[in-house]
Amino acid sequence: MQEQQFIPSKKYQLPEEGHVAWESPSNIALVKYWGKYGEQLPKNTSISFTLSHCKTTTKINFKKKDAEKDFSFEVYLDGKRTESFEPKIKQFFERVEDYLPFLKQYHFKIETQNSFPHSSGIASSASGMSALALCLLQLERQADSAMTEEFFNKKASFLARLGSGSAARSIKGNLVVWGEHQAVRESSNLYGLAYSDDVHAVFKDYQDTILLVDRGEKQVSSTVGHDLMHDHPFAEQRFTQANDNLEKLLPILASGNLEEFIHIVEQEALSLHAMMMTSHPYFILMKPNTLQIINKIWEFRQTHNSKVCFTLDAGANVHVLYPKEEKEEVLDFIKNQLVGYCQKGMYICDEVGFGAKSI
Ligand code: DP6
Repeated sequence: MQEQQFIPSKKYQLPEEGHVAWESPSNIALVKYWGKYGEQLPKNTSISFTLSHCKTTTKINFKKKDAEKDFSFEVYLDGKRTESFEPKIKQFFERVEDYLPFLKQYHFKIETQNSFPHSSGIASSASGMSALALCLLQLERQADSAMTEEFFNKKASFLARLGSGSAARSIKGNLVVWGEHQAVRESSNLYGLAYSDDVHAVFKDYQDTILLVDRGEKQVSSTVGHDLMHDHPFAEQRFTQANDNLEKLLPILASGNLEEFIHIVEQEALSLHAMMMTSHPYFILMKPNTLQIINKIWEFRQTHNSKVCFTLDAGANVHVLYPKEEKEEVLDFIKNQLVGYCQKGMYICDEVGFGAKSI
């Protein structure tokens, strides 16, 4: 499918005013997206677990306005006008305008809130941009009753991607592949697809407890981070590694072999950070406590014959991943041995979820 197919071909009878609301989850990549080209296209295929509790809820009131000269919107985070979000949203509107050609006809009041604390170090771009994309596409769907569910989901992911790459993976659940790969039928660089092939039951309710090691502002924005992959001496090897890891992961998702799963997931997390440590300029985004936690997880895994493992985003927080049947044991371990490494002892219990919901 090409970009052009997301440009509406018909003229719709659009509503004068109304409102739409969606909640959309965050996701955690198992094989990481790091490096992009063109308009938000990934240099390698990635796959993620959709989360359940970490989510953004966005409500948009829209009303037709007279002049169609410019975009017109205001953004509220937790009920407070947040002008600092507006440049990012304006950029998003510019990128999606061809696909949602009615945007300039309306004034939008965008009200948004996250289920996780602000500045927790948890990226809100995946849940936030996907919720926004879903709301705007819902407006189009109100005028086009023939739009199929399948097309709606693809276009929502396509639009979300233009806001933030990882947001393309937040529309559906419980596993989403984004990026063309010969091993995944119909996979595309343009949007994420729910991975519905053979998936072992163990992954259907996998747990993710997020340890908040550093709640400060991100040291490196993802835009700057992805840019570091241009001219990176190891970039090509990294893209090959990620695509190979994705292919190796598919039979593991089917068999439920957790030892092999752990190996790939942890290698991906450390490779992502290795890329940042070896770029120009270079960054260390892990904190001493990140390493302490990793070592404790490795020790616990050995001594308790556990299948707990970790993954990381582009920051210091640690996502502790484990099968549900180990929940009690692992939560005890977290409370007894890991909480001390978290800022103010904070952590968030999440699990695999099934995608965004209209509310
Ligand atoms: C490390 O999706 O935040 O979380 O497309 O510039 O918005 P932009 O980047 P973003 O990058 C996320 C990178 C990552 C890995 C991943 O989620 O795959």
